[in-house]
Amino acid sequence: MSTQSDPALPGDGYTATAAEITVVAPVPASSAAPAADHGIALRAVDLTLSFGSRPVLTGITTEIRKGAVTALIGPTGSGKTTLLRTFNRMNDKVSTYRHAGDVLLDGRSIWHSGVDLMSLRRRVGMLFQRPNPFPMSIMENVVAGTRAHRMVSRQGMRQVAEEQLTAVGLWGAVKDRLKDSPFRLSGGQQQLLCLARALAIKPEILLLDEPTSALDPNATESIEALIRKLVPDITVIIVTHNMQQAARVSDRTMFLNKGRLVEHGETRQVFEHPVEEETASYVQGRFG
Ligand SMILES: Nc1ncnc2c1ncn2[C@@H]1O[C@H](COP(=O)(O)OP(=O)(O)OP(=O)(O)O)[C@@H](O)[C@H]1O
Ligand SMILES: [Mg+2]
Repeated sequence: MSTQSDPALPGDGYTATAAEITVVAPVPASSAAPAADHGIALRAVDLTLSFGSRPVLTGITTEIRKGAVTALIGPTGSGKTTLLRTFNRMNDKVSTYRHAGDVLLDGRSIWHSGVDLMSLRRRVGMLFQRPNPFPMSIMENVVAGTRAHRMVSRQGMRQVAEEQLTAVGLWGAVKDRLKDSPFRLSGGQQQLLCLARALAIKPEILLLDEPTSALDPNATESIEALIRKLVPDITVIIVTHNMQQAARVSDRTMFLNKGRLVEHGETRQVFEHPVEEETASYVQGRFG
């Protein structure tokens, strides 16, 4: 998808052609649980997922606590990004992708025929590993999603931009260059800008896929501090390879290995007293 024509649905460098768009069979109405799932933002129910004949996630049943930061850890290729992208249906566009089982957002299947993809992605926002500002001005970047969702008038754009850029700590650095291209900002500033854009549409859930892996320690610290400020208003799921980061920012940790959910619990418990030997090996750096 093109980031220019569809800024509300930011891509990650991948552009699907019409032929690649998978038509996902509507889930029968009976699987649409009544709305509201107390204290739980997202629930995966026996979620199994494959690309072609290759299974990538197997039988994942878990719940993501509302208003908490959940870290998603696991070795390369364990399925972290795939799981994250499932939560706002970013995989649907891959022609070979198939799933069984379900994901419930506030008690309702994200694949239910009544679910509108635009609204789903408004509720479940995403920030990618590499900053992906759109080729438009800094101000237009911040408001791109809000404009697409008709949440703000042209006159209200500057105010929204100021609010969001202030919230991510970028206002001072960019207030005199709102009409400039974002590509002259540093990598860390570009990531903060993308975070401001994601937050402007007021998501309920924010998915972060290794958001600081390309950033220096200072920029990383700013993003981590911001993540802590987002909860409990927003539910955050963050994929990270950095165990210290997971321990610093998250309340809960999920450990994935080879597409299976090995362990999910309070972060402290997972790091200090893991139930599974596999988890102990991973968090102690013995593999991965
Ligand atoms: N679009 C796709 N088509 C085919 N296979 C895919 C696709 N996306 C992911 N996979 C496969 O799914 C598996 C899990 O990939 P995923 O990107 O989810 O891993 P990850 O845990 O995020 O790894 P990393 O830590 O390296 O980012 C990998 O074997 C990968 O090759
Ligand atoms: Mg990944």
